[in-house]
Amino acid sequence: MKIFVLNGPNLNLLGEREPDLYGEKTIDDLEDMCRARGKDLGLEIDFRQSNYEGEIVDWLQDARNAADGVVLNAGALSHYSLAIHDAVVVARVPVIEVHISNVYAREEWREASGISSVARGVIVGLGIEGYVLALDALAVLLAAGTDGEEES
Ligand code: DQA
Repeated sequence: MKIFVLNGPNLNLLGEREPDLYGEKTIDDLEDMCRARGKDLGLEIDFRQSNYEGEIVDWLQDARNAADGVVLNAGALSHYSLAIHDAVVVARVPVIEVHISNVYAREEWREASGISSVARGVIVGLGIEGYVLALDALAVLLAAGTDGEEES
């Protein structure tokens, strides 16, 4: 099983950027954490970061044929990108939206997400541990043989 872990704008600066909000760990530390948990769970991790909306759209389109699930922290794009909303739908694999900080305890504009309504689940405010929890959730959903959505 292959999981894309996709990171949006400014997340390349983890560790330097507002460490009170995002912590002291770098994006390389985050990648190592995801790879380690992926190994434990038997998931292959494809970890990427981009500051460009279109590149994230391309990766979500690729996920359709190349991934079994996606962990997505689209950064500020989460709050306004309709293209990313559409690309999450196109991906057709379970997408877990992650935010390191508690977006509900910050500026009001961060409360809106274009992704949450089409994500399989959302993990907010638990630091970079949220990525590990998202991988755990995907492992459970994928082991169940479906994306875990209830039949309607
Ligand atoms: C973030 C929250 C966003 O509001 C912000 O623009 C980010 C990071 C988070 O992980 O907490 O870049 O997605």
